[in-house]
Amino acid sequence: MIGMFDSGLGGLSVWRQLVRTLPHESVLYLADQGYCPYGERSQAQIIARAEVITDYLLAQGATLLLIACNTATSAAVRHLRARYPQLPIVGMEPAIKPAVQATQSGRVGVLATRATLAGSKFRELAEQFRQQAQIVCQPGEGFVELVESGELASQQARDTVSQSLAPLLAAGVDHVVLGCTHYPFLAPLLRDLLPAHIDLIDPSDAVVRQTARLLTQHQLAAPADAAAAYRFVSTGDTGCMQTFMRQILGRDDAVEYLPLAG
Ligand code: DGL
Repeated sequence: MIGMFDSGLGGLSVWRQLVRTLPHESVLYLADQGYCPYGERSQAQIIARAEVITDYLLAQGATLLLIACNTATSAAVRHLRARYPQLPIVGMEPAIKPAVQATQSGRVGVLATRATLAGSKFRELAEQFRQQAQIVCQPGEGFVELVESGELASQQARDTVSQSLAPLLAAGVDHVVLGCTHYPFLAPLLRDLLPAHIDLIDPSDAVVRQTARLLTQHQLAAPADAAAAYRFVSTGDTGCMQTFMRQILGRDDAVEYLPLAG
């Protein structure tokens, strides 16, 4: 079973892609909504959450961990790999490489949380591409809150999103990397607000491909006739997650409440 987590609902953008591509894999998704947003938390707090969540997912039978959160990956993946050396772990990072390879203007925008952009992992990644393109970093101010409240198309959402896009437009970027798993849920709005020549890059596909590779490599892939089971748990407002899943993903699954302190 694949165990995955995010600070909240954002990782469902990865879950959606995962179950489309690997329909036989069972998945347990944990939304750490009681502690969302991670983007405003310290590295030590995020590491502590990642540890307690990983312990829980392992106790539930997870054999592969998918960190469906750029912020948690940036803060905690090294720590988790050292603490659980046998566990295959897939993390998220902003997809700068494909954007740099495709840019015509030589300027690429990255939208992510403040914590991701400030982390050493991101700075090292961006540094690798500095010779090839200008990387324009921009926090998606208020984006996570919009997604968590299911507000994906209101006037308030348009105004909030427009403010963070303005510096990217002024810089003349032709690609915008979605460096937070919440942001793909705002993609229709972003598409509407950005000129047509600007491409959006969502790394979910690449992450799901990496998950498939690791499952095969560790002989953990479900048999082709397996019926997948899906479970959803939240450390916060289960009703809000259920409504989001119904409205945005068209799913009626129950969401279990899990007060996971630590
Ligand atoms: N979905 C998350 C990410 O990919 C984190 C959002 C947050 O909690 O700030 O970065």
